Amino acid sequence: MEKNRPSWSSRVTFILAAVGSAVGLGNIWRFPYIMGQNGGAVFLAVYLLLILTICFIPLFAELVVGKFTKKECIGAYEAINPKFKFLGAMNPITGVLISSFYFIVGGWILNYIYLSFTSSKITDYGAYFGSFTQSALIPCILTLVFLFLCIFFTARGVKKGIEFANNVLMPLFAVILVVLIAFSLSLPNAKLGLEYMFKPDFSKLNAHMFLAALGQALFTLSIGMGALLTYGSYIKEDKNITKSTYTIIFSDTLFALLAGVMLFPAIFSFGLEPSSGAGLVFVTLPYIFSQIPFGGIVSGAFFILLLAAAITSGISIIEVPVATMTERFKISRINACTILFFIISAISIPATLSFGPFSEFKIIGKNIFDFLDFITSNFLMPLNAFFLCVIAGWFLKIKGGTFIRNRVFAALFDFGLKFVVPITLLLVLYIGLK
Ligand code: TRP
Repeated sequence: MEKNRPSWSSRVTFILAAVGSAVGLGNIWRFPYIMGQNGGAVFLAVYLLLILTICFIPLFAELVVGKFTKKECIGAYEAINPKFKFLGAMNPITGVLISSFYFIVGGWILNYIYLSFTSSKITDYGAYFGSFTQSALIPCILTLVFLFLCIFFTARGVKKGIEFANNVLMPLFAVILVVLIAFSLSLPNAKLGLEYMFKPDFSKLNAHMFLAALGQALFTLSIGMGALLTYGSYIKEDKNITKSTYTIIFSDTLFALLAGVMLFPAIFSFGLEPSSGAGLVFVTLPYIFSQIPFGGIVSGAFFILLLAAAITSGISIIEVPVATMTERFKISRINACTILFFIISAISIPATLSFGPFSEFKIIGKNIFDFLDFITSNFLMPLNAFFLCVIAGWFLKIKGGTFIRNRVFAALFDFGLKFVVPITLLLVLYIGLK
């Protein structure tokens, strides 16, 4: 093992960093809009089913492969079998593609922080969001600023950068969400929002919903691009990875549900469209803020905390290619970060412009931003997760019995890792490509 590999200062730090990676824009921005596009409560039911049954396995397996091999993605796969090197390399590549659209949304948050503290006269937030994302210059600059922030923390290294954000800001974020939920529930017609979220109409169930739910589950838990593998490889001591896995899943699901309960009542109360897509949060929330006392301050606090959550996730995405570049190609951390800044910018800028000047440019009928989201969440992440489970189950031969005391659960784990999860992932890929 290499001497100067980074490692976590304690088990708690590791868990917080992993939760910090999981909880991010995926929970607050992506989850509500994907749910809105897929019919609400039925989607939630499918999503929760997947989270509670099969998601444990790939998450756990990624952490264990990292912890066991103590290497970055390519090295980790190679350590199991040199032929798998290329499959390992798909992880940092996926990471670069994810970051290229994730950071755009980070830039939008910066804009909304600015708006919170200036007295704007906006009345139609839907129209505002449209014209803001279509304007070329400011969104591009903000994307780069957000990218720079994440790269800055990553460049500072594993210990210094991430701990504060996770220890202090996450709990504060939960508190502000609860305050907003209380307000949202007090609005007229709030009940409609709750019904939309919790009263499933199973006749609407379809195969595409499984694809969207699994894509969302993998995305929000940071599974399928080596982020957890890399974080797992920095673990020195954690005898109870099972418990850490539950903690990550529980916290992540909690934040997603809080976001839903905060948004949907307000969406119905203001007569907005739940299926309107990527702008959902950025249209609904400003409405709420404009209605409540001290809305500007609450809005500022909310978006700053969301920014913190997005940064801790952004760091984990960047850490994957950084770990590969530093360990495998012996590039210094700072140089790796600089190179990545340019590579990610080169993809993010056209993607940012895909809402405005480049909106006519389509790949498989999608603009660049939607294409990057689609190709990573619905294709690359399930594919990476598939290979990871196959490698962990069939080649590394991870056995549930060594981690899980209950014999029945251990057997279920083995069966799930070798058969159920890989087959489900293949099925989902098939539906996605059809
Ligand atoms: N899980 C994060 C979120 O919900 C995003 C994220 C961080 C991610 N690291 C990842 C997604 C790795 C996929 C893979 O916002």
